[in-house]
Order: sequence, then C-alpha cells, then structure tokens
Amino acid sequence: MGQISPLRWLGLSAAALSAFIVTSLPSHGEDAGNLYNTAVDIRLGQRYFERQCSRCHGFDAKGNDETGAPDLTGRLNRASSDAGIFNIIREGVPGTAMLPVDSEVPDATVWQLVSYIGSLRYDPASVELAGDADSGARLFNGAADCSSCHMIEGEGGRMGPDLSRVGENSTPDDLMTALVNPDADVDPRWWQLRVTDREGSVRQGFRMNEDSFSLRIMDDNAELWSYPKNRIANYDRIETSTMPSYDGRLTESELDDLVAYLFSLRREVQQ
Ligand code: HEC
Ligand code: HEC
Repeated sequence: MGQISPLRWLGLSAAALSAFIVTSLPSHGEDAGNLYNTAVDIRLGQRYFERQCSRCHGFDAKGNDETGAPDLTGRLNRASSDAGIFNIIREGVPGTAMLPVDSEVPDATVWQLVSYIGSLRYDPASVELAGDADSGARLFNGAADCSSCHMIEGEGGRMGPDLSRVGENSTPDDLMTALVNPDADVDPRWWQLRVTDREGSVRQGFRMNEDSFSLRIMDDNAELWSYPKNRIANYDRIETSTMPSYDGRLTESELDDLVAYLFSLRREVQQ
C-alpha cells in the first residue's frame, strides 16, 4: 500500500532533512535494525502480545476471522522488514481496527513485539522435509486428484480453498493435519448449510452467506441458491469438512510428498 513518507508530506528533500527526521520522529522505525531481539526480548514481546494484541489476532497470532485481524505467522501483507512492522504497530493501519499502540509504550517494547512476530515466521529454506515436492505435484494433479477441488495458479476446482500460497501461512505440521484430519480446523467459509424449504425439499451446499434475512449456498455443481429465511422450514449448519481424510488412503510417503509440494507453494520472496 502506498504510504506518504513524512518527507514527501513536508515537501522537503530527503538529503537536506534526514537529520531533522531522525531527531523529530524518533519513534519511526528505520532499517538500522532491531536491537531488542534476544530470547528474553522475544518472550517479553510475546507476553505483551498475549495481553494487548491476542484479542484480535488470536492467542497463537494466527488471526481471527471475526475481528478481521490477519495471521501474523506467515508473510505479512503490509510490511516486509522489521522497520515496516515497527511502523504498523506504532502508527496503526488508518481506517481499520488496527490502532496505533498507546504512545506511552516505549520503543523498546514495540521492538520486542517485532522480534516476537519475527520469531513466528518460518524460514522455508531452513526446513528439512522428508517428502519430494515434484512427486507431490504429480500426485496432486494425478492419482490423488486434489485438483478436482483445489485451484493452484488458476488451474483446478472450486470445491476447496485456492492453495496457490498455502505454504506461506502453514507449517508442514499444519499441512499434514489438513490432510489426515480435515475436520480439525475448518474455516467458516467452508462450513455447509443443509436447507429444507417449505415444500420439504432439501439442498446442501457451502455457506456463502448467512444473515438475519437470507441464506446463500453453493452446491456441488458450483451453482448458487438463495433462500429468504422466511421461506424455509429449517436449516442445519455443518461445521465438518467436505474434504475426505487421506489417513490410510495414501501411504505415509505419499503424504510426505504432498506436504513437501504444498509447503513449496508461495509467492517468490524477493529479498
Ligand atoms: C482491535 C483489533 C486489533 C488489535 C487489538 C490489534 N490489531 Fe493488529 N491488526 C488488526 C487488523 C484488523 C489488521 C488488518 C489491517 C489491514 O491491513 O486492513 C491488523 C494488522 C496488523 C499487522 C499487519 C499485518 C500484515 O499482514 O501486514 C500487524 C503487524 C499487527 N496488526 C500487529 C499487531 C500488534 C503487535 C498488536 C498489539 C500491540 C495488534 N496488532 C493489535 C486488528 C487489531
Ligand atoms: C472434495 C473436495 C476436496 C478434495 C478432493 C480435497 N480437498 Fe483439500 N480441502 C477441501 C475443503 C472444502 C477444504 C476446506 C475445509 C478444511 O479445512 O478441511 C480443504 C482444505 C485443504 C487444506 C487446508 C487449506 C488451508 O488453507 O489451510 C489443504 C492443505 C488441502 N485441503 C489439501 C488437499 C490435498 C493435498 C488434497 C488431495 C490429496 C485435497 N486437499 C483434496 C476440499 C477438498
């Protein structure tokens, strides 16, 4: 997102005024680096996070659909450097629920939060996986037929989430759990509704929308159906996954290959 730098905002040249910026905006994070990144700092950052941030971002920092606060354990949308994260915490994201931290909170605490958030990020290069990503890709599109439900880079079905970037916010353990125990963590987007109308006919599909007056579902053929709530007899919400468990259907080494493939699915990281 474009952000107006304080320099541009003042209409002044960077060269002439860098000294001014440093002295007058001491709490604007610069790329000088984070000096508060020891194990103790991370722990203090975590403690502060659990008290002040977890109500929106979740205790595990994995985000919360209800508050709209994003997952902070993967690649962030708005910041790619420590200084950028510092500035988000200090200044908030205007027009969203992400408010600036209290101005009395010292910079050291904000840097400790940055260190804590940094500690949650997985460096994919440092992860050793048992499986083989190329074999996983072949299984995905072939014998295991995952692509009938999942899209990757525009190819595949719509009966499950787009997995083009699933490696960014998932650990290999999360991915294995998704394969062997899909019911463990189903995003409300993938819940289903079973609707019985006044004539007694029943239709089931993904819960696309549910408010006080109406329901909208998408059935197996990707067709959308809308029901005014006053026209239906009743409906049930199904919070289990429509994805089958692959525990026992695929061998352990096939599962490892799929995990290696899924974990490799991410945007190219430019650094
Ligand atoms: C009242 C709810 C709320 C609280 C409390 C909150 N946040 Fe946020 N946070 C949000 C929302 C909503 C966004 C997404 C803003 C946007 O980009 O639209 C966000 C975004 C962020 C981002 C940017 C994420 C990205 O992908 O770029 C960071 C970093 C962040 N918050 C850290 C924190 C920290 C650290 C705290 C505690 C000091 C905190 N937040 C407290 C709601 C909250
Ligand atoms: C019948 C359709 C269907 C098939 C077939 C299917 N999935 Fe899924 N999958 C889903 C749905 C729906 C979800 C979302 C609900 C959930 O989390 O279980 C999902 C979730 C996932 C997730 C978690 C995504 C996330 O964002 O956390 C992964 C990973 C995944 N599937 C991988 C696979 C792989 C690999 C295969 C093939 C071995 C496969 N799926 C086969 C429907 C399917």
